[in-house]
Parts: sequence; C-alpha cells; structure tokens
Amino acid sequence: MKDRVIIFDTTMRDGEQSPGASMTREEKIRIARQLERMRVDVIEAGFPAASNGDFEAVRAVANAIKDSTVAGLCRANDRDIGRGIEALKGAKSWRIHTFIATSALHMEMKLRMTPDQVLEDARNAVRFARKHCPDVEFSPEDASRSEPDFLCRVLEAVIAEGATTINIPDTVGYAVPQQFGEFIRTLRERVPNSDKVVWSVHCHNDLGMAVANSLAAVVIGGARQIECTINGLGERAGNTALEEIVMALKTRGDFFPAETRIDTTQIVSASRLVSQITGFVVQPNKAVVGANAFAHASGIHQDGVIKSRQTYEIMRAEDVGWTTNKIVLGKLSGRNAFKQRMKEIGIDLESEEAYNQAFQRFKDLADKKAEIFDEDLQALMSEGRVSSLYERWRLVHMSQASGMGERPHASVVLSEAGKEHSAEAQGDGPVDATFKAIESVAKSGAELLLYSVNAITTGTESQGEVTVRLQKAGRIVNGLGADTDIVVASAKAYLAALNKLHDKTERINPQV
Ligand code: KIV
Ligand code: ZN
Repeated sequence: MKDRVIIFDTTMRDGEQSPGASMTREEKIRIARQLERMRVDVIEAGFPAASNGDFEAVRAVANAIKDSTVAGLCRANDRDIGRGIEALKGAKSWRIHTFIATSALHMEMKLRMTPDQVLEDARNAVRFARKHCPDVEFSPEDASRSEPDFLCRVLEAVIAEGATTINIPDTVGYAVPQQFGEFIRTLRERVPNSDKVVWSVHCHNDLGMAVANSLAAVVIGGARQIECTINGLGERAGNTALEEIVMALKTRGDFFPAETRIDTTQIVSASRLVSQITGFVVQPNKAVVGANAFAHASGIHQDGVIKSRQTYEIMRAEDVGWTTNKIVLGKLSGRNAFKQRMKEIGIDLESEEAYNQAFQRFKDLADKKAEIFDEDLQALMSEGRVSSLYERWRLVHMSQASGMGERPHASVVLSEAGKEHSAEAQGDGPVDATFKAIESVAKSGAELLLYSVNAITTGTESQGEVTVRLQKAGRIVNGLGADTDIVVASAKAYLAALNKLHDKTERINPQV
C-alpha cells in the first residue's frame, strides 16, 4: 500500500488574495461543493477574522460541506482563532490553521517582534486552538528563509502544544527543489517530536518552481500534505497548481511514493468554475487544464496519435474531465432536462426561483444559439451571479457600427434603478466605443486594467466570454460577460465590473 498525500486546497483563501479574485459567499459554496465532489481532503475556505463577509462565507462553507475537512486561516492570536472557531464549529470536520512569521526579516521588519515573542505567540496560539479543536495546523510563515535552529525550536514547541499538522511555507517562492526537499527532511530529522504530526508544504510560484518544490518535499522530505490551488491561483505568481500535483502523482505513480484520493475526472470542471468566478482566464498552454493541453497541431504528432495515442499523450483527456463539446440541450429542451443537466455538471441551485431565472436565461441563449454545451451552461451561471448582486446598471439595448476606414460608433441604453439613460460615443474599435458610451453615462472614473476575450466552445458560433478588470480607489474587481456577440459580451462584462464596484457586499481582497 502506498502512502497517501493529503490534498489541502487553498483556492478560496490564498487564491482569493489575487487582485480582483475576491469571492462572495455563494461563489465560495459553489467552489467548495465542486472541491468536495473532487474528493479534496481539506478545503481552506477563507480567513474568518479578515472581515464579516469572509467570516460568513467560511461559516456557510463549513455548514454545507460533509465529506471534506473545512479549514480557516487565523493569525496567532486569541481573537483571530476565536473567530475561526465560531465560523467553523458547525462543520462535520474542521481545522484551525494558525500562522506566524519566523524569518528574521519578517520578525524584525514586519512583526517588530523578537524571536522569543514569536515563539511565545506560536505556542499560545496552538494551545488555545487545541482547547477547542482536535485538528490544528501551524505554519511558520517564510519558513524557507528562516534560520533552521530557531525554526526547529518553534516547531518542537507547537507540536508539544498539540499541533497535528506542520506546514512549511515557501512564502515568497524562493526555494529550489532539491534544497527544499532536503530542508523538509532536515526539519523532520531534527525536531524531536516530528513523528507526531503530518508534514505539509505550501509553495508559491515566483520562480515557476512551486509544483517541483512540492513534489521534492514529498519524495526527499517525506511531506504528506500539499497545499495547492485550482489553476495555481494565488498571491503574485500564484501557488502550487492542484491539477498538476495530482496528475503528476498519478501519471508518474511508478516514481512517486505516495498517491491522492482525488477524483481526477472533476478537474476540468473545477478549473472552469474557478476561472469563471474569478475572471482569471486559464492560459491555453497551461498543463492539464489549458485548452491546448491535449491538442495536437503538427502533422507528425497528429499522425502518431492516430496510430497510437501513447506516442504523444501521457494522460488521457477524459481522465481529467475533458469532454469533446457534446450538444446537451437546445431550443426545445424543457425545464426538467435543463435542471437535470445542471445537476449532472455539478451546478446545484439553492431554490426553484433560482432555477426559473437560470432557465429563462437559458431560453434567451437558445434563441441565439442552436446547440448549448456544458460550457455554455457554466457561463450562464457566471452571468446569473451578476444578476444576484446589487445591480445598479443594467444593459437595456446596444448597437454599434464599424467598417473599414470608418470610425466605430456605439450607442447604449442603460437602466439605473428603473430609469433609462442613453448615450453614444466613437472609439478606436467597437468595444472601445461601447465602453466610452457606457462611461459617459456611468461616470465611474474607473481604470481599465484588463480586457480579454475567450471563445467558450469551439467554432465561430461559440459564445465569447469577456473579462473586464477595473480599478478604483484601491479596489480591483473583475466582471464577466458572455454572449454570441462579443461586443455585447464586452458591455455585459464592463457593467458587471461596475456593479461590483458599487456593491457594498462585494469584498475587497480580504487581507487588505
Ligand atoms: O504563503 C504563506 O506563507 C501562507 C501562509 C499563511 C500559509 O499563505
Ligand atoms: Zn501562501
């Protein structure tokens, strides 16, 4: 029997720390359900003390999830841990994850604490957490740049207080694989009570080595928990990508000494869901979940794959949940067929009213597009999320004209609290003209940070999915829009982002 690697997903905590990736409570529940379906062992749902919104989101996830442990991140103090306990205690299985920085740089410059004070806070935090929760994880932040003797003292002390998992973060993505693996092995050898805990790693991807570092920690260091995120989302360059870790352990099971319990066929759905909710598009050449990950373009490769799949494929697309765009529904499909398919692809709506609204949007789409694929249904739900937000601006009508040698022109009709406003503008292209027309009404003054368009499925009849990232007064938000007309999709995405900027329930990055 092989050892098991515990998969600890932190998409909704570390992933949410990416600019513009903040998630609402409902979105966190949807992601958590997908992670549970995928058989993730531990789901870190957020940072309960960071804001009331995150507290409520963590509590809702804790109450909804039955087959995974739900964790919440807390700084090493009683207030944070108290909030964590309150948020998590309704869960069937829950974990307090507490952390404090241990590198000289962080202790001196950030915390302004002496090493002895840090040691004392770490010890007190774990003691307090263990009084209320049998499952306590401790992370010495910036561990990979911490002085090993001091780190060993801290780890020995927190294990003595009852920590059950020790997680070693490479907070700034500084580690290299061989050295990091040996670092974990040395810590396990030097900390006298190291056999009482599960050893875990949490790697950032600043040098593109997060996955390699995590795997080295398993092979060389004996780590048996990996912290990771869907699509590698996370602070700066992101975290270890869950899909890459899981598929590396599975595909190279001949080499790796441990395996996961993940249902890999749920990976692509999880990737799409996170991408649609956060507005962070997956690059086409991304391993495992990128659109090209299983595409063979060159003649030699195509010929090889036709003769024998293994010539150029080391994984099967179906094993990670890729399906060729199968038509699932159309104009004549009824409400029951729609509801059933939504459930099959993991979209469980909270009420009949929500199904009715989603069905109406489905019918509108089916009028424009003959064949509706799973990917279209998923995009429909991202749009639905917009209409469930506080919706200050709504698109009533728009048109635009452009042609070679002509300056593009757009006109829009927007409604604001039931009152209609129209505007026209010219721009460098039809999208630019549309955004200028919208801005001339909304006057948000927001700065456009990102505009991107993706085809949801293949072919020119596909819906275009647009992401718009806006920034105003230090807040960054992403808006998504989908439509068979990409200029309409762009207008929807721009308005979705504006509505998020206005929505008081929409949280900024919870750690800010
Ligand atoms: O990167 C980091 O150090 C973290 C810890 C809080 C685990 O995210
Ligand atoms: Zn991190």
